[in-house]
Amino acid sequence: MNTKITWPRWPVADENTFARVRAVLESGRWAISGASIGEPSQEQRFAAEFARWNGVKHCVTVDHGSSALVSALEALDLGYGDEVIVPGMTWVAPVLAVLSVNATPVVVDVEPDTFCLSAEQAAAAVTSKTRAILPVHLYGCMVDMDAILALAAKHDLWVVEDSAHSHGSQWKGQNAGTMGDIGIFSMQQGKVLTSGEGGAAVTNDDTFKERLELSAWNSRRRLDPSTVKPGNLQLAETTARYGTNRCLSEFQAAILLDQLPRLEEQNHKREKNARWLDAELAKIEGLLPMRRLPQITRQTYYGYVVRVNAPVYGQEALPMIPKLRELLGMGDFLLHGAYKPLSNNPLYAPHPKMHALEPAYRASLKVSDLKLPVSEAGYTGSIVFHHSMLLGDEPHMQAVVEAFKTLQRTSRG
Ligand SMILES: Cc1ncc(COP(=O)(O)O)c(C=O)c1O
Repeated sequence: MNTKITWPRWPVADENTFARVRAVLESGRWAISGASIGEPSQEQRFAAEFARWNGVKHCVTVDHGSSALVSALEALDLGYGDEVIVPGMTWVAPVLAVLSVNATPVVVDVEPDTFCLSAEQAAAAVTSKTRAILPVHLYGCMVDMDAILALAAKHDLWVVEDSAHSHGSQWKGQNAGTMGDIGIFSMQQGKVLTSGEGGAAVTNDDTFKERLELSAWNSRRRLDPSTVKPGNLQLAETTARYGTNRCLSEFQAAILLDQLPRLEEQNHKREKNARWLDAELAKIEGLLPMRRLPQITRQTYYGYVVRVNAPVYGQEALPMIPKLRELLGMGDFLLHGAYKPLSNNPLYAPHPKMHALEPAYRASLKVSDLKLPVSEAGYTGSIVFHHSMLLGDEPHMQAVVEAFKTLQRTSRG
């Protein structure tokens, strides 16, 4: 184990973070469902800031990225009988969100050099029941949004952009999450913008904004803070739509307000180090960095992915992970495998009781029917570093390169 390297700590908190959390504690307003204290809530302030930061009209915050996905599908009125195209390589949240509105996920394969939804495969999967596409910008790569938006326009489909990994990546100057009808983000512990748990949905559409709020706030509406006297509630009950409670707490919103101004500089550092690693690792025979499409004008990284061509490099990717951890002094938060493909992912097990509407629906969810060769090869053939590794300095990046060289030497004797 390389005990000399100390990897950057994640998440980042300092006196400002503590002060913001303390201020919420002292204010007595811990939730948007709590009584007004005569000023906009932390949540309302963060929602406005995050919308501005993304160059989009509205942001609706929620307790998890998973909730943002469900709220987005509900806002689009998707449900039973509707098909939603999702990628086969992803964390399970997108496909589970489709199931939770009782729509049918149509799982298609990804591109071998970005691990993002293949627009070609998506086009081949469109049927008369397809209502939406759910592209996921995975790890540090972006989906070909030109192709996805063109496909959606051709077939009149909604686009829900999953940017859980990609706060601040840009496609031709436009932020990830802002090109589809609704975009979602996760602010869970490991994400590039975090409040421990948390999420958001963004949209330019006024109707979707209203529906997202009703869906995430138990069908409650926010009253204008200037009209609410301190001590009174700011969320008013309605019967407008079905909703469940997915509210972000004031503590989480305060932490996000603290973290957001740091994100630009962190993203810049991640991108610079990732590009350096891309160049250096590509010099090692058998290692393949991910492809950056030319339309990507800025890129952040939730994970830094290295693909391994085993016959050339001399080792398979997955068995290398424990050895790399040992060499670099990393735990499994910092270094792990890629997502298991949905064809072979224990977390994707459509629950027979929840989805027992009719046998044909159950049959359409058969995981054993999924054919995802690219996702499967991606899982066994790659290694993923957590993005906080990219917040290190030159010695950290050199150490990563050296660890791969050491492994290659030892495998070749
Ligand atoms: C691609 C993707 N979408 C959605 C989510 C859900 O986010 P959360 O964990 O905040 O529910 C995740 C979580 O890691 C994710 O990786």
